Amino acid sequence: MSEDGTWKGAAPRPISRAAEREKAEAEGEDRKEEEAKMMEGGVEGKEGEDGKVWWRVAGPGLPHEGSRLHTCIEGRYVTLFRHRGVLSAIDAICHHAGGPLTLGAIEDIEDLGNSVVLCPWHKFMVDIVDGTKAYRKVEVQGGKPVVGGWVRGKVVQRAHSVREDEGGVYLVRNHT
Ligand code: FES
Repeated sequence: MSEDGTWKGAAPRPISRAAEREKAEAEGEDRKEEEAKMMEGGVEGKEGEDGKVWWRVAGPGLPHEGSRLHTCIEGRYVTLFRHRGVLSAIDAICHHAGGPLTLGAIEDIEDLGNSVVLCPWHKFMVDIVDGTKAYRKVEVQGGKPVVGGWVRGKVVQRAHSVREDEGGVYLVRNHT
C-alpha cells in the first residue's frame, strides 16, 4: 500500500473457503483411517536397537496437547495422553472392574506433583504416567475420621514406554 492509500502490489486474492474445507475434510478422513487401523491393532511394530518392539501409534505431534488417543496393540487397549507437554501411555480399561478409564477426566494433584485420570465408574484415580493410584487417606482426629492428605499408592494400572521422533509416536507394550 502506498502513502496515498492506493494499492501498488498484486491485488489481494480472496481466500478459498471451499479449498480450506476440502483440505480439512481430507485430513480428518486420514486421521479417521489411521485411528480405525490402530483400533484394529493394525499398527506397525518394529524391533528397536534396544531389542524391544516399538509400535508406531500416531503421526508426529499426536495426540495434540491436552488430548488423548486410543489404540490397540496385540489385542491390548491403550490410551496415549499428551498432558502438560508429557507423552504417556497406560492401559485403557480400568484395573478395578473393567470400567472405561480411558474416558475419565484428568486432574492435576499439586500435593503429589502428578496428574491422574479419574475412572468414570467408581472414581479411582490413576497416575497417567506410571499407573500408580492416588487417594486421600483417612485420619482420625478426636475420635472422628476426617479426610487427610494425598497419598501415592502402588502401581495398579499397566504403563507403557513412549517415545516420539519426526516419524511419529511409538510405544512399547509393557507385558508385566
Ligand atoms: S471400574 Fe474403574 S474405578 Fe471401578
